Amino acid sequence: MHKSKILITCPKGLAPFLKQELLNLGFPVLSESVAGVETEGALDDTLSLNLRLRTGHRVLFQLKEFSANSADELYRELYALAWEKYVPEDGYLCVTSSVDTPSIKDSRFASLKCKDAIVDRIREQSGRRPDSGPARDRSVSHLYWKDELCKAYLDTSGEPLSRRGYRKMPLTAPMQETLAAAVVLATNWNGGGNFLNPLCGSGTLAIEAALIGLNRAPGLLRSNFGFMHIKGWNERLWRELREQAKKEARASLPGRIIATDIDPAAIEAAKKNAATAGVEQLIEFGVCDYADTPLPDGGGVIVMNPPYGERMGEIQQLEAAYKGIGDYFKQKCRGYTGYVFTGNPSLAKKVSLKPKQSVHFFNSGIECRLLEYDLYEGSKKIKKT
Ligand SMILES: C[S@@+](CC[C@H](N)C(=O)[O-])C[C@H]1O[C@@H](n2cnc3c(N)ncnc32)[C@H](O)[C@@H]1O
Repeated sequence: MHKSKILITCPKGLAPFLKQELLNLGFPVLSESVAGVETEGALDDTLSLNLRLRTGHRVLFQLKEFSANSADELYRELYALAWEKYVPEDGYLCVTSSVDTPSIKDSRFASLKCKDAIVDRIREQSGRRPDSGPARDRSVSHLYWKDELCKAYLDTSGEPLSRRGYRKMPLTAPMQETLAAAVVLATNWNGGGNFLNPLCGSGTLAIEAALIGLNRAPGLLRSNFGFMHIKGWNERLWRELREQAKKEARASLPGRIIATDIDPAAIEAAKKNAATAGVEQLIEFGVCDYADTPLPDGGGVIVMNPPYGERMGEIQQLEAAYKGIGDYFKQKCRGYTGYVFTGNPSLAKKVSLKPKQSVHFFNSGIECRLLEYDLYEGSKKIKKT
């Protein structure tokens, strides 16, 4: 089976995590940008990538790279591609695009030209043409066009991989699943110690932690991917990959995962989401103030994503909350590594502890940081700013 370039897109800022995931899975890294990593492989390889990647958004299999200076040139180049090998003539096609080229003002026009070329080609070859529209639950093609450079892809994910399928009850300001997975990976928590998540909201961090701790492939939760709508897709391989992934997953964890929130509706939603993700028996949920979250012996990580004023709450009130988080860390959390994920640096200062590390993220376009605090035990002093 022939190899091609495979571009995996990711939310801005997650490329370092995605790159590491690819290397761990044995894939080469050809290049990295702020919102994607390029690797290579056969079309069949996209099955395991879709099954296993936690921080990727879309797995795009490159079919053709060419240059075009006008919409007509784009059409001719795309029409020359054997789409009938990939897109079923009785199927349904969605074309997405990322376009930044002088001759095109509206990227929807480029998508339309691309769609026309594909369906015209298929009609010419088979006498039938697939339906088309915006739904991404069947065949999806992606067009990249920057200046003269064009790349045509099969989108083997369809719906983005961040839609794991477990978040049935989102609340205000939930964290995207891919971002939550990257935050857990940034803490290096691997299921060994305890994972505490006060202010858990809809539970995304705790659920992603459970999936990571169990080594459970996130794609096991989904039943539909773009590759399933590519002609002749390898169903047998998919069954084998799923079986293998299930065998590699742990059944239980040595540590405890505890997720709490002051809002009963948040805990209700988090419980439902965890049940859909199949990890509800692993997470101990509780309705309480963050400072009353039980802290089991044995240490581990404690991750908090407090509101940061851009989308929820008022800054002044939040100053007291951040100061309280610092006091809680200092007084109660010795032996743990503390993390605060926030998009407001001046609120973060109110924690009044010196962060050991600060990892850069973006959440819904807002620049955020994951601040790490070592909360030493015993005689070693907690470092103050
Ligand atoms: C930014 S949201 C967390 C979002 C979460 N990471 C997710 O993915 O859904 C902050 C949460 O803190 C909770 N909260 C605010 N003040 C609290 C307090 N004093 N104690 C516990 N939870 C609190 C809110 O109810 C809200 O659910």
